[in-house]
Amino acid sequence: MNSIMAFLFSCLVVSLITSTISFSSNETDYQALLKFKSMIRNEEALSSWNASSHFCDWIGVSCGKSHRRVTAVVLKSRGLQGVLSPYVGNLSFLRLFSLWNNTFQGTIPHQLGHLSRLRFLQLSHNNFTGVIPTNLSGCSKLEKLGLGDNKLVGSIPEEISFLSKLNFISVSYNELTGGIPPALGNITSMEVFDVTNNPLGGSIPDTLGHWKSLTQFDSGICNLSGTIPPSIFNLSLLTDFSLAENQLTGSLPSALGEMLPNLVFLQLRNNKLTGPLPPSISNCSKLVDIQLSYNNFSGKLNINFEKLKNIYRIHLGDNTFGVGRESDDMQFINTLKNCSRLVSLDLHNCKFQGVLPTSIGNLSDQFRRLVLRGNHLYGNIPSSIGNLVGLTQLDLADNHFNGEIPSTIGKLYKLQETYLFENQFSGPIPDAIGNLSLLNRLALDSNRLEWHIPSNLGNCHNLLELWLNDNTLSGTIPKELLQISSLTIMLNLSQNSLSGSLPTEVGELKMLTSLDLSNNNLSGSLPSSLGSCTSLSFLSLKGNFFMGMVPSSLSSMKGVKTLDLSHNKLSGSVPQFLERFSFEYVNLSFNDFEGFVVAWLNLGCPCARRHGKIKKPLPLFVTVIIIASTLLSILFFTYAWCKKRKGQPSQSSRDERFMRISYGQLLKATDGFSEANLIGEGGFGFVYKGILDHDHNRIVAVKVLHLQNRGAHKSFIAECDAWRSIRHRNLLKIITSCSSVDFQGKDFKALVYEFMPNGSLNDWLHSRESTSRLNLLQRTNILIDVASALDYLHNQCLPPIVHCDLKPSNILLDDDMVAHVGDFGLVRFLGTKSNQNNTSDIRGTIGYAPPEYGVASEMTSSGDVYSFGILLLEVMTRKRPTDNIFTEGLSLHKFAQMALPNHVTDVIDDNLLNFLQEDAIATQHTIAKAKKIEECLALTVKIGVSCSVDSSRHRMNIQNVVRELQHILDTLRKIFEVSY
Ligand SMILES: *[C@@H]1O[C@H](CO)[C@@H](O)[C@H](O)[C@H]1NC(C)=O
Ligand SMILES: *[C@@H]1O[C@H](CO)[C@@H](O)[C@H](O)[C@H]1NC(C)=O
Ligand SMILES: *[C@@H]1O[C@H](CO)[C@@H](O)[C@H](O)[C@H]1NC(C)=O
Repeated sequence: MNSIMAFLFSCLVVSLITSTISFSSNETDYQALLKFKSMIRNEEALSSWNASSHFCDWIGVSCGKSHRRVTAVVLKSRGLQGVLSPYVGNLSFLRLFSLWNNTFQGTIPHQLGHLSRLRFLQLSHNNFTGVIPTNLSGCSKLEKLGLGDNKLVGSIPEEISFLSKLNFISVSYNELTGGIPPALGNITSMEVFDVTNNPLGGSIPDTLGHWKSLTQFDSGICNLSGTIPPSIFNLSLLTDFSLAENQLTGSLPSALGEMLPNLVFLQLRNNKLTGPLPPSISNCSKLVDIQLSYNNFSGKLNINFEKLKNIYRIHLGDNTFGVGRESDDMQFINTLKNCSRLVSLDLHNCKFQGVLPTSIGNLSDQFRRLVLRGNHLYGNIPSSIGNLVGLTQLDLADNHFNGEIPSTIGKLYKLQETYLFENQFSGPIPDAIGNLSLLNRLALDSNRLEWHIPSNLGNCHNLLELWLNDNTLSGTIPKELLQISSLTIMLNLSQNSLSGSLPTEVGELKMLTSLDLSNNNLSGSLPSSLGSCTSLSFLSLKGNFFMGMVPSSLSSMKGVKTLDLSHNKLSGSVPQFLERFSFEYVNLSFNDFEGFVVAWLNLGCPCARRHGKIKKPLPLFVTVIIIASTLLSILFFTYAWCKKRKGQPSQSSRDERFMRISYGQLLKATDGFSEANLIGEGGFGFVYKGILDHDHNRIVAVKVLHLQNRGAHKSFIAECDAWRSIRHRNLLKIITSCSSVDFQGKDFKALVYEFMPNGSLNDWLHSRESTSRLNLLQRTNILIDVASALDYLHNQCLPPIVHCDLKPSNILLDDDMVAHVGDFGLVRFLGTKSNQNNTSDIRGTIGYAPPEYGVASEMTSSGDVYSFGILLLEVMTRKRPTDNIFTEGLSLHKFAQMALPNHVTDVIDDNLLNFLQEDAIATQHTIAKAKKIEECLALTVKIGVSCSVDSSRHRMNIQNVVRELQHILDTLRKIFEVSY
């Protein structure tokens, strides 16, 4: 009896407890979802999440049918921004959780580790920071874990190896370090392992060979070294084997193809692998993509591609196949005839010897890229090449091909790029090339081509560059060639035997940046239409028989940097306008000029600018040699010049030919300078955001100068000069410039800068909502950045540089809130001629320019210090020097000065004080600490006041400013560090 009672009682208790739990639990889910929503910044994205419906009916939420508990939250691509609430850890019935492709920031809450029923966790494509929480190992049922494309740091937690059901892990595109933990090998269910693009380091653990079910192994760009453990080659289900861009060594097992018969992707490019390519790859009949380029593979290429019917891409370039004495290295091409899906075959720099088999013509219509550059191939190009009607790129350059270029090439109507340079082709340039109306780039230079240039090349009206130099072409320059208005990069006809005069149509090359006609037999006078080529920056006519005067119209070619008219029969006086050009190289020697010429050339090294691989510049020599001679009439200007291969300008410009930027490219990058891309406006122009698709979609800021404004030209030149000689972490980097004409033929000048995603200091001070204002540490850091930039300009540059227009809208902030000083439109080089000449120019901005600039004294570095002082006070008080409260008698300087030393909080920006107050509450600042912070504020304001005194001699030295601010920052850091 007793025991029955006890039983009933305990049942009652149990049922009471469970009903309470189940009540409190659906309440828990409800609360957890509300907390989740409350941490989303754009709550409107979850507007359906409200009390008018049961939470099980909310968008993205699913519940169990009977228990009505949340089992799935799926909110993919909903544009959610905010922080992931730790309360999600209370959704204890959750099985599926996906926030894929949103903008969550902050850390991944470790409370997710409480979700013991979770099977699927997908947080990829967000902005999560911090580490992967180790206690995710509490999600013992987890099968799929997606954390890719975030900003996670730290290592892959070893504890993940406790998740025995895991079959999918992706942490690609993060910043993870610490290697691949060997313990992961314990997860025998693993199918997909993707850690692509993390600076992991270390080697590939041998234990991963336990993953018998693995199909995808993606560890490209992981800084991995050592050899690939043999155990990996036993994972016979592998379809994706992708280890590109590491430092892996060793060779591939010869039975690779038998061990991994399911391979679809074999991507091992950019490693240090050696040995022969396993012939057994011939058995990988599912292979679609084989990328083994940029390794040290060697030996004969013995792969038979007949069974590889799905192959799409074969990239084996930059290895040393074919070093033997055999000469049939290309015979494998015969085995490609069944590969009807092949699109790209790239075998550049492989040391292959032999002839190109006729069977090349058996490839399918799908075939688009044939790249055999830099081998030892000889013989004719088979005329069957004309069958490859899908071809868009044909690159056979730098081989020993000979014979005529087959006219069947004219059937390849989709060709965009054709490189046949540096071979031994002879005979005429086939007329049929004129059929190739989509050609962008045609390079036939350095061959033995003869006869005349076919006039129907003029039909290639999409050509950007044309290289016919270093051949034995004769006859005249067809005028049709000069009417290809798309030519923007290069027209090079140098080192031939062309004769006759330069047709006046040359003036139609309005977009062209380089024109080289040197070393021919051209004669007659220079057409004045040449002056219409206003985009030219390189012009060489040397070594011809041109005579007569240099036409005065050439004065409109203002962008010319290299001008070589030497070794002609030009006469008359050297045009005075040449003095105004800023040349990097000019050579007028060996002509029949008369008279004295004085030329002043600007400072600056011509070659060290541009990104990418450019030859090293020689030390800067500035030599302005003025030679006057009436008898010999030799004129020589020698100026900083770069080392050139074989001394031929045509060769050195080849390296630069992809780096220039044209008006058209900028037009495209900014979507036609659209309003949507407008991000700023300054005195001299508009600033647009742009995307350079020819440069890996690099995001840039493009400043387009208002050339009609007074001083705009000068500002452009000042900025270009400044950018050449300076480089500092806190100065805005200029990537390139564009000096050209727009499609209406008007002058167009633009500067292309690094894009600063966080906008200007001015925005942060005055435009943003108060919640996103800068805190004290950020402001102090920014001030140090700006002061360091000035210190560099004033004290480390030779000649010293004065910025002349320092103000918050010229201070730009990068991703990490590091400040970069920009806008060098008004810079002055101290002690150079241009400085003294320009004292009457536009001078700075009202409020920031020192009082002495008003009375026409020189621009000096202490003027910059004044502007800095005002800027500092603006940063601390959030009051512009032009604020309405500053009328007669009161200025920002006075306003701040009066608050020193004891009332500084009266003038400090309220937002800053609010931050400090919140901080004080949150971290229990003691009164002593508050006092210390106040002292720091006073010291900072004092610097601003000392910099902005009227008397220029009494302003602080910028080096001391940097030192004192640094000291203040250190003190502040200590105060804040201790309290957190
Ligand atoms: C929780 O469940 C109880 C009983 O089924 C129900 O009355 C209550 O409305 C539910 N609460 C929520 C927030 O759904
Ligand atoms: C990501 O989400 C955005 C909406 O926030 C959407 O426009 C975009 O297409 C999504 N990306 C992908 C790859 O689905
Ligand atoms: C992450 O933040 C950066 C800026 O810090 C932004 O450019 C990027 O688009 C964000 N990523 C996603 C997925 O929203």
